[in-house]
Amino acid sequence: MKGFAVMASGRGSNFQALIDAMKEGTLPACCLRLITDNPSAYAIERAEKAGIPVTVLDYASYPDRSAYEQALLREMRATGADLFVLAGYMRILDREIVEAFPRRILNIHPALLPSFPGLHAQRQALEHGVRVSGCSVHLVDSGTDTGPIILQRCVRVEQDDTEESLADRILEEEHRILPEAVRLFMEGRLNVQGRRVRIR
Ligand code: GRF
Repeated sequence: MKGFAVMASGRGSNFQALIDAMKEGTLPACCLRLITDNPSAYAIERAEKAGIPVTVLDYASYPDRSAYEQALLREMRATGADLFVLAGYMRILDREIVEAFPRRILNIHPALLPSFPGLHAQRQALEHGVRVSGCSVHLVDSGTDTGPIILQRCVRVEQDDTEESLADRILEEEHRILPEAVRLFMEGRLNVQGRRVRIR
């Protein structure tokens, strides 16, 4: 069975969606490891409950960004994973890391890319006044949330939405499309042609 590794910095509800999909049998793959940059990430507890090994690379304990990225690259290589899933991993990956795993890193983003990349995507959507937002799973390239899009889901923006209420509604869809995208990758069904991803 093919394996993937997850990288998460916080709560880890998308990581949990992957764990649940594996348990239910809708994601026939093995999660080899959680890598986190945050020693107090709740994702760590989720991994421990599910029996998934954890590597904590405490960003604060490295002298600079480059030392951290080198350690991260070593850890990523050591997992032997076919795929790396960024599930709420709150750092931009170095070009060197992106190039070490071409088309093998996925990210989940809480907006309909290419709208509202970067931080606070739900706030950006509300402030812009869009009627529809959503979430995207995409392959990671060296830009910020710019890589080829695999799956997207729409969510209506209601008149009285707050950043939190919109984030919650988008999250429900994130939990659906992330396991689905990982499954498609694991089944070798993604055919990337330039920016376009064809699903076989
Ligand atoms: C999600 O909204 C995800 O799209 C974004 O960060 C958030 C992580 O949430 N990249 P969680 O840690 O998976 O609960």
